[in-house]
Amino acid sequence: MIKIAPSILSADFWRLGEQIRKVEDAGADMLHIDVMDGHFVPNISVGTPVVKSIKGKTHLPLDVHIMVSDPERYAPIFVEAGADILTFHVEATPHPNRVIQTIKAKGAKAGVVLNPTTSLSTLEYILQDVDMVLLMSVNPGFGGQKFLPFVLKKIEALRNWVEKEGLKVDIEVDGGIGPTNVKDVVKAGANVIVAGSSIFAADDAGERVRLLRKLAEEALR
Ligand code: DX5
Ligand code: ZN
Repeated sequence: MIKIAPSILSADFWRLGEQIRKVEDAGADMLHIDVMDGHFVPNISVGTPVVKSIKGKTHLPLDVHIMVSDPERYAPIFVEAGADILTFHVEATPHPNRVIQTIKAKGAKAGVVLNPTTSLSTLEYILQDVDMVLLMSVNPGFGGQKFLPFVLKKIEALRNWVEKEGLKVDIEVDGGIGPTNVKDVVKAGANVIVAGSSIFAADDAGERVRLLRKLAEEALR
């Protein structure tokens, strides 16, 4: 089943509530919230106050992607703020297993994120313990970047691995996805599609959510 996860990084924060309502009404499956610390990535976005104010105002699960150094310290704080699924970067900690345990102990789903050039081999002792793997298809830090096509092979390899092991792990892909390439991403094996600028820069964000889903589902036929 395909899940569409609009990223609010590209939303108009003046009208954030209204824009979230739009994508929710259009059938989005979760809301992707990008947290950037200006240290792990060269940009600063939003923190716990934004997660807290969205929590409870939408029925969409909050998919919080923390692009921060020291996820051991920050993952639990974002779960307390309201994350339903929390994804952190494997590159940001020497203790990914500890972070996963902490997130789950706090009652959220746990996922790990790999930068475009981080090898799938980093998942060898992690895959069985996570609910989701997020593969970055741009270098994290900014919305509106161009999709890196070499990631398609990586998605395919991860899908094969997950199937071979019979695991129930979602494969989310994030960065540069829009109507022109969403089919390729789904055909490669992704089932959770993040889209920021493609949705919130469109004239009608709701219409764009429906279009992405339609194209994604066509790709499965
Ligand atoms: C990038 C973020 C993405 C970003 C995607 O670092 O993790 O979630 O918002 O934006 P688009 O879809 O515009 O590439
Ligand atoms: Zn993201």
